[in-house]
Amino acid sequence: MKKVFVTRQIAEEALQILMQNAKVTVHSGDLPPEKNEIIEQVKDAQGLVTLLTDQIDAEIINHGKQLIVISNVAVGYDNIDVETATRRGIYVTNTPGVLDDATADLAFTLLLAVARRIPEADSFVRTGQWKGWDPNLLLGSDLKDKTLGIIGLGRIGSEIAKRAKCFKMKIIYYQPQRDPEKEKSVGAKYASLKELLSKSDFISLHVPLTSETKDLIGKKELNQMKKTAYLINTSRGPVVDEQALYQALVEGKIRGAALDVFDQEPISADNPLLKLKNVVLTPHIGSATLETRTRMAVLAAQNTVKALNNETPPHLINPKVLEYKKNPNSK
Ligand code: GLV
Repeated sequence: MKKVFVTRQIAEEALQILMQNAKVTVHSGDLPPEKNEIIEQVKDAQGLVTLLTDQIDAEIINHGKQLIVISNVAVGYDNIDVETATRRGIYVTNTPGVLDDATADLAFTLLLAVARRIPEADSFVRTGQWKGWDPNLLLGSDLKDKTLGIIGLGRIGSEIAKRAKCFKMKIIYYQPQRDPEKEKSVGAKYASLKELLSKSDFISLHVPLTSETKDLIGKKELNQMKKTAYLINTSRGPVVDEQALYQALVEGKIRGAALDVFDQEPISADNPLLKLKNVVLTPHIGSATLETRTRMAVLAAQNTVKALNNETPPHLINPKVLEYKKNPNSK
C-alpha cells in the first residue's frame, strides 16, 4: 500500500479520502513539523500533503525517492521548490477556486476594519477610555465613491471587486496582462501600476509571490500613494517591503494598513508594526473558515489520490512534469 505523510491535522473528511487509498501518517501537534521529521517521513512516502508553513526544499524532495505527488493545502505554492519536484517527475498540486470567497471576505473585512478603525475602537471601549459621546471620536473613512485599486484581478481579486461594488466604490485594477472580459464582468477599469498607486484610496494585493512580485510595493511605490491611502495585504508578506511600509506609516506617507501576511510568520514579538495604531494585523487567516478549510483539505486529498492512481491530478501546477514522466532521462 502506498504511504502518504500529512504535515498537519487536516479535516477528517479529507483524511478519510486518503485513508481509503493509502496508509496515512499525520504529524500531530499544534506546530508544523521540523524539517527532520518531514525528511524521515518522506523517505518511504509516495504522497506528501503539505501546508504553506512547510518549506519543501530540494533537500526534502531529494529524500523522497518514491515520491509521486506533493499536494499543497493552499492556493499559493511559494513554499515548494517546484522546479526540483518537476525535474524529479513529481506532481505538485494546489487548491484553487475553493477559497476565493473566504479570502475576499477577509480582505474586505480588513479594509472595513482599517477604514473604520475597529481594533482601536474595540480597545478604546475595553480599556475604559469611553467617557462620553464625542463628534470627533475615532473618525474613519467613507467607502462610498472612494477608489479601490486591486493589484491582481484573478479569482480572489474579482471577488473583492464584487464586494466593493456593493459598497459603492469605484474600482481600478492593475496586472501585467489586461483582461478586458474580466474587467467588464466585475466593472473594473484598467490602470498602470503608477496610475493605480496615485489614484487609489484603498489598495488590495492579490498576487502570488514570485521573483517578479517580491517587494512589488516598496518605498518608491508607497511614495506614489495618496497620504490618505490604505494598503491591504492578504497575499504574501514579501510582496510588500515591510520596512518601507513601516516607515511610510510612521511618516504619514499613507494613512493605514491592514495585513494578514508578513515577511516572517509568525511575526516576532519586537516587530515594530505591533506598536502602530494605524495598522490592523491578523495571523494569515485569509481562508480560515471551517467550510473553506474543509473544502481545501478535501481537494488536496483528491489531488493526492488521483496522482497515486497514476492519473494526472486536476490541480496540477507543474504540467511540465508530464514531459519528465514520459521521458525520465530528461531529468
Ligand atoms: C493561503 O494563503 C493560500 O495560499 O491558500
